[in-house]
Amino acid sequence: MTDKLIIFDTTLRDGEQSPGASMTRDEKLRIARQLERLKVDVIEAGFAASSNGDFEAIKSIADVIKDSTVCSLARANDRDISRAAEALKGANSWRIHTFIATSALHMEKKLRMSPEQVLEQAKQSVRFARNLTSDVEFSAEDGYRSDLDFLARVCEAVINEGATTINIPDTVGYAIPELYGNFIRDLRQKVPNADKAIWSVHCHNDLGMAVANSLAGVKIGGARQVECTINGLGERAGNCALEEVVMAVKTRRDYFGLEVGIETQQIMPASRLVSQTTGFVVQPNKAVVGANAFAHASGIHQDGVLKARDTYEIMRAEDVGWAANKIVLGKLSGRNAFKQRLQELGIDLDSETEINAAFAKFKELADRKSEIFDEDIIALVGDESVTSEQEHYRLIALAQRSEMGERPHASVVFAAGTAEHRSEAEGNGPVDASLKAIEAVVKSGAEILLYSVNAITSGSTESQGEVTVRLQHGGRVVNGVGADPDIVVASAKAYLAALNKLHSKAERVAAQG
Ligand code: KIV
Ligand code: ZN
Repeated sequence: MTDKLIIFDTTLRDGEQSPGASMTRDEKLRIARQLERLKVDVIEAGFAASSNGDFEAIKSIADVIKDSTVCSLARANDRDISRAAEALKGANSWRIHTFIATSALHMEKKLRMSPEQVLEQAKQSVRFARNLTSDVEFSAEDGYRSDLDFLARVCEAVINEGATTINIPDTVGYAIPELYGNFIRDLRQKVPNADKAIWSVHCHNDLGMAVANSLAGVKIGGARQVECTINGLGERAGNCALEEVVMAVKTRRDYFGLEVGIETQQIMPASRLVSQTTGFVVQPNKAVVGANAFAHASGIHQDGVLKARDTYEIMRAEDVGWAANKIVLGKLSGRNAFKQRLQELGIDLDSETEINAAFAKFKELADRKSEIFDEDIIALVGDESVTSEQEHYRLIALAQRSEMGERPHASVVFAAGTAEHRSEAEGNGPVDASLKAIEAVVKSGAEILLYSVNAITSGSTESQGEVTVRLQHGGRVVNGVGADPDIVVASAKAYLAALNKLHSKAERVAAQG
């Protein structure tokens, strides 16, 4: 048994399955590059057979990522597996991750297959995948609620067919740490060829125990791969949070005795990037990456930390990439300084045209905001007018009038494809008026499920506002994010970004459907 814990990141696959978290190809590429800087061992880049968009995103990631293994999910059938191999074949190192459900409930009600049929299909798909690559992971979906003896037969059979990693998901987040750890341990003991594969845990967070369960799977069960996502992003209550598992294993090395290859100083940049890209805001008291994670508010704690930081701190903020908000650039900074900061932040814009567009945006921002922080730069490159993706709806101009006692009024100019629209509306507030003006032209009929505003950098009203708008229409839920020092403008940008996502009609196959 190796003493290295493999970190398998599934932000771009399981994380993206979270309603509203869908990402464009360029956004996924940017996150994949950050995951590589974070030194995750495996990047699950998507589910190639689910849509052309996912296929293309995986292919682009496979083409640029050099250090991490790139992986695609595939249902246990030849078509899905071939599609995954097709998307991945440009990668330095790649893995096919195939799965089928093994619990009685899923086999009977969802798959309508007998256990023997499931066993055969699992074997056949691993055999097929092994002819395409030597790195094959098999997942027993709803594994934790499966019959132990049957699951052991499936695991033994797929290892015989050449599966190199066996993953036992707690698909519905039903496990309790001790029980899950025991389950993995007992399962491994029942599988005669268990030592021929790496065992992996994949826990959902429905009862808030995904991290604890994963760690129990490692400590008690002997698993040596953890599947996780940045910020715990994922469907329902999310997945196991990468930053928490990694910092637990590192901080309590005395207990776990395991190595992780993660570059922990890249944790905060990864957390910010995922949150700004998806619009899923990190709660302030979230472990490791929440705004308060290292803030000592009470007088007693502050006094203690000032005398000796380990009185109340078990990790160092700088070790996970927290840096005091420092001014990085200003109005007088030139293009070279800006370009260098992009490089330091690990932002690779595709062309000089994109760098020029980003620099123009930066100058525009610096005219309105005297201090530019890293977070501002990250938000700025996420702007669709900077990246090569040409969005359908684009904000051109916005003016609004509001006065106490008067009904606010907004006038918005925006592009829809090649057409330019001008629209006016009144609303309860300037944000409401602006969104109504846009909706009066677009007529999306979408329902606003969520509207939230956050300061990108804390501690000052000079900060840019970052707005998330979540829309629901025709069974789809999408998030749009917009940033600007003017929160009305940020809101209009966020609304248009969400409409753009609704506009791209990519149909997807549900991974667990
Ligand atoms: O939760 C789950 O069971 C999964 C599998 C598809 C690996 O995500
Ligand atoms: Zn999952």
